[in-house]
Amino acid sequence: MAMRDGPLIDVVDLSVVIDRDEGVVRPLNGVSFRIAQGQAVGIVGESGCGKTMTSNALLRILPPAAEITSGQMRYRRKSDEQIVDLATIDADSDEMRQIRGGDISMIFQEPMTAFSPVHSVHNQIAEMIQLHSDMDDDAARRRVVELLDLVGIPDPEGRADDYPFQLSGGMRQRAMIAMALASNPRLLIADEPTTALDVTVQARVLKLIQRLQRELGLALMLITHDLGVIAHTVEYVYVMYLGQVVEEGPVAEIFDHPAHPYTQALLHSIPSLTSKADRLEPIEGSVPSAYALPTGCPFHTRCTQKVGDVCHQQMPGHAEVGPGHRASCFIHEGADG
Ligand SMILES: Nc1ncnc2c1ncn2[C@@H]1O[C@H](COP(=O)(O)OP(=O)(O)O)[C@@H](O)[C@H]1O
Ligand SMILES: [Mg+2]
Repeated sequence: MAMRDGPLIDVVDLSVVIDRDEGVVRPLNGVSFRIAQGQAVGIVGESGCGKTMTSNALLRILPPAAEITSGQMRYRRKSDEQIVDLATIDADSDEMRQIRGGDISMIFQEPMTAFSPVHSVHNQIAEMIQLHSDMDDDAARRRVVELLDLVGIPDPEGRADDYPFQLSGGMRQRAMIAMALASNPRLLIADEPTTALDVTVQARVLKLIQRLQRELGLALMLITHDLGVIAHTVEYVYVMYLGQVVEEGPVAEIFDHPAHPYTQALLHSIPSLTSKADRLEPIEGSVPSAYALPTGCPFHTRCTQKVGDVCHQQMPGHAEVGPGHRASCFIHEGADG
């Protein structure tokens, strides 16, 4: 395979264990996913399923007692197209520091996480630009204004010297996205980027992220508990449950032919996606603790479609159920193995 044709990120069998006084937590249990250059991918699952842990593993910003116990995270660098394994690289190395924030940028739910309150928007974005390029002050200034314009901030020349608190919530969100673009990243990770926003602002921010992803050819990893958020934003979806990918496929396949009982339950539990004819049905019970994982299929304790003892005794394979579409459930066992 030619190097340029390979995926941007290829994560295989990633497991993370956290050794705590209270016991051993297993937030990630053999996660595999890939993101192609310029591809928009969604990661969905209820709170506690390991979505944030997955992106923190990629960026190597895991909690102190956490350890990567298996797997690879092959990443193709922006500078030289070299493949590095983010699972084994030194988390404090210069190379990892360049990747974190340089190659891979984060969009946060709360813009003030990204900004310091005591410096102007211009100074903070310019600093980020100059950290990742050799632009002089004038060129960096022009680039800041260009970025603010790109994310739809009116009068970007005038607003550049504002402090973050002088911007409205929506404008601050946009400025934070401009900051995430300052390093010319290849991959944008957005972890629940719109959860705290009201519905109209949420729709606008999602549209903006989608437009930037397409125009700039960025890869996007959009993390959310809300299937409604990814419906119109990504091409391919990974459904996570208890630190595993239980279903994956093109977004239309996931919505039209959900194959895993968990995905089906998620779809039925979302008000915006449930047609008026259907009744909204919350998923029975809650996500089990990552301190005490169920045996067998992780979802069997809440599943309404169990096929027998096998569900709590064995882990189902990740079987093909449609074009580019896979699910880990004994209902589909034998579909192709
Ligand atoms: N620092 C930590 N110590 C112990 N357990 C943790 C820690 N951080 C997260 N977890 C656990 O790891 C699991 C996955 O968490 P997380 O990745 O934050 O889920 P999500 O982002 O999908 O809501 C959860 O069970 C959570 O309680
Ligand atoms: Mg999270």
